[in-house]
Amino acid sequence: MAEKPASPSCFFFAASLVLLTLSSCLASPTPTPPSPSCLSGTLSNILYRNNNASFPTVLENYIRNARWNTTTTPKPLLIITPLQESDVQAAVLCAKRIGLQIRIRSGGHDYEGLSYVSRSQQPYFVLDMSNLRQITVDIGKQVATVQAGATLGELYYNIWKNSKIHGFPAGLCTTLGVGGHISGGGYGAMLRKYGLSVDNVIDAKIVDVKGRILNRKAMGEDLFWAIRGGGGASFGVVLSYTVKLVPVTENVTVFRVERTLEQNATDLAVQWQQVAPTIDDRFFLRLLLLPSNKTVKASIVAFFLGGADEAVSILKKKFPLLGLEKQNCIEMSWIESAIWLNNPDDYKIGVKPEIILNRRLNTAGFLKRKSDYVQVPISKEALEGIAKKIIELGKVALAFNPYGGKMAEIPADATAFPHRAGNLFKIQYSVNWNDSSPAAAENFVNETRSLYSYMTPFVSKNPRSAFLNYRDLDIGINTFGKNSYEEGKVYGAKYFNGNFERLVKIKTAVDPDNFFRNEQSIPILPNNH
Ligand SMILES: Cc1cc2nc3c(=O)[nH]c(=O)nc-3n(C[C@H](O)[C@H](O)[C@H](O)COP(=O)(O)OP(=O)(O)OC[C@H]3O[C@@H](n4cnc5c(N)ncnc54)[C@H](O)[C@@H]3O)c2cc1C
Ligand SMILES: *[C@@H]1O[C@H](CO)[C@@H](O)[C@H](O)[C@H]1NC(C)=O
Ligand SMILES: *[C@@H]1O[C@H](CO)[C@@H](O)[C@H](O)[C@H]1NC(C)=O
Ligand SMILES: *[C@@H]1O[C@H](CO)[C@@H](O)[C@H](O)[C@H]1NC(C)=O
Ligand SMILES: *[C@@H]1O[C@H](CO)[C@@H](O)[C@H](O)[C@H]1NC(C)=O
Ligand SMILES: *[C@@H]1O[C@H](CO)[C@@H](O)[C@H](O)[C@H]1NC(C)=O
Ligand SMILES: *[C@@H]1O[C@H](CO)[C@@H](O)[C@H](O)[C@H]1NC(C)=O
Ligand SMILES: *[C@@H]1O[C@H](CO)[C@@H](O)[C@H](O)[C@H]1NC(C)=O
Repeated sequence: MAEKPASPSCFFFAASLVLLTLSSCLASPTPTPPSPSCLSGTLSNILYRNNNASFPTVLENYIRNARWNTTTTPKPLLIITPLQESDVQAAVLCAKRIGLQIRIRSGGHDYEGLSYVSRSQQPYFVLDMSNLRQITVDIGKQVATVQAGATLGELYYNIWKNSKIHGFPAGLCTTLGVGGHISGGGYGAMLRKYGLSVDNVIDAKIVDVKGRILNRKAMGEDLFWAIRGGGGASFGVVLSYTVKLVPVTENVTVFRVERTLEQNATDLAVQWQQVAPTIDDRFFLRLLLLPSNKTVKASIVAFFLGGADEAVSILKKKFPLLGLEKQNCIEMSWIESAIWLNNPDDYKIGVKPEIILNRRLNTAGFLKRKSDYVQVPISKEALEGIAKKIIELGKVALAFNPYGGKMAEIPADATAFPHRAGNLFKIQYSVNWNDSSPAAAENFVNETRSLYSYMTPFVSKNPRSAFLNYRDLDIGINTFGKNSYEEGKVYGAKYFNGNFERLVKIKTAVDPDNFFRNEQSIPILPNNH
């Protein structure tokens, strides 16, 4: 079976998971959750204590990285599953009153599990937003309002139900949760044409630390700016976003072209760097470099907002080494392309769009991700060295996601997401495995770090930038002691560049006691107390 370490698939290795040996041990004893009156009121019907028989299932349903599903992984005392917005207000106020830390989870895809694991050793609860998933679409106004617990698949489906010529620019993986994905930026196949998800958000609703529900007007432009790329979890609980729909063509085109090193993959990658960030912004040409059978396979996974004839004629001129022919292309509706992009290997022509509604509860492989930005084209010689390193390591893969187009036109401080003009492409380091042993994890995580270290000369510097949605605790964590601001600046400068200081000011203003925190949240100003 061919390995697909960097396939955009959401559904890594589900079949092989049944082979895992399941631990039969009982979890080690954990303290019994507190029972103050604010928990026994309206919250009691939506609250799972850690001794409740359903607790493991409710917790595991939205675990998307099997590494954070072991008996030694820290567990919450409680999970609260709001059914209405007022439940979120009650949960925030109650947690503050009884001194429980909060973790907010929408789709659960955080690569480091920050939405359900706290490494702080303080008692915490998970606010699981998955039941708050209403979506309303207004084609006349070309907007949709989507609650945080909805998946991208549900958003795409609801838009498609209402109009075949509208879409929304967001992630490739259709089980991503709106709450985490959009607050962290949100990129997908239309980013060069329409920018990120956050560039198309026009309103939001949030529950703040005082338990108030605030819309854009009530929260003000600073906080509204922060929750477009700064991550939600530092500022409050995002209840919903209102987004602007974008026009899509009735048919779009997708294709995948693969070359090994022996088939001149390196030349292809050299030309790709000239073409992918500069070509017509209807194209998204993602390049994967995958270790495969002692060689490297360059795989171009592509989306074009238009028909196959036009795609082929443009690419023949601009990207001759690709050698694209019409028979490589599939024309399909936009909703079908969302299904294809989620997992090209699984795609079947004629598939029912309803498949995109599948939340695939409680399925995940073991994985590690890291990120980088490239601002200067990487030479052919350097690419050959990188390929050699990938072969030597054996499992870690790279995905190059081209920027340019609309991404380069939006100022770096328009939203909290800073990586705009000047970036040719973003790199995702990616490794997936299916062996639950700690040794396997150590080995594969080491591989990503080793390749990351090898890449140093070729990527952004001072700071070495990173993408918040590709959460990576290697780049710094906060212990919220005396040096919290300095610790925060280490990862904060990488995720947010010049926007970090403004995020700190906003954080200090809206949550001065730092209730909303996690290992990589925005710190408050050092002299605040
Ligand atoms: C298989 C896979 C594919 C991916 N593909 C893409 C992609 O194509 N494009 C892309 O941009 N990213 C992608 N990502 C990254 C993804 O966007 C982030 O992991 C994102 O944070 C997931 O959101 P979530 O709600 O599912 O995650 P969660 O784990 O629920 O949340 C992530 C973070 O946001 C916080 N948060 C969640 N909900 C709320 C809320 N309602 N209010 C405040 N804070 C909240 C959490 O506390 C946590 O810090 C992918 C991730 C995976 C695992
Ligand atoms: C577990 O929690 C759910 C949700 O609050 C509740 O309905 C159920 O009765 C609880 N089960 C037990 C055995 O306490
Ligand atoms: C988590 O582990 C349990 C067994 O302990 C297993 O049943 C479940 O499928 C796992 N879920 C994920 C997402 O790894
Ligand atoms: C690779 O490039 C070489 C030199 O340009 C060329 O001769 C050869 O035909 C190419 N191979 C393939 C498979 O395209
Ligand atoms: C691996 O590569 C060798 C040599 O190029 C080839 O003979 C073999 O068929 C390849 N195996 C697979 C599984 O692709
Ligand atoms: C869409 O693509 C399909 C498949 O190629 C084709 O049959 C159909 O005519 C196209 N529709 C439009 C509007 O281009
Ligand atoms: C998963 O495990 C099986 C059996 O050990 C192995 O053959 C397969 O290559 C593994 N897949 C990945 C992606 O590691
Ligand atoms: C991983 O890297 C660490 C530090 O470089 C090293 O000590 C350890 O032996 C490595 N582990 C494996 C399994 O390669």
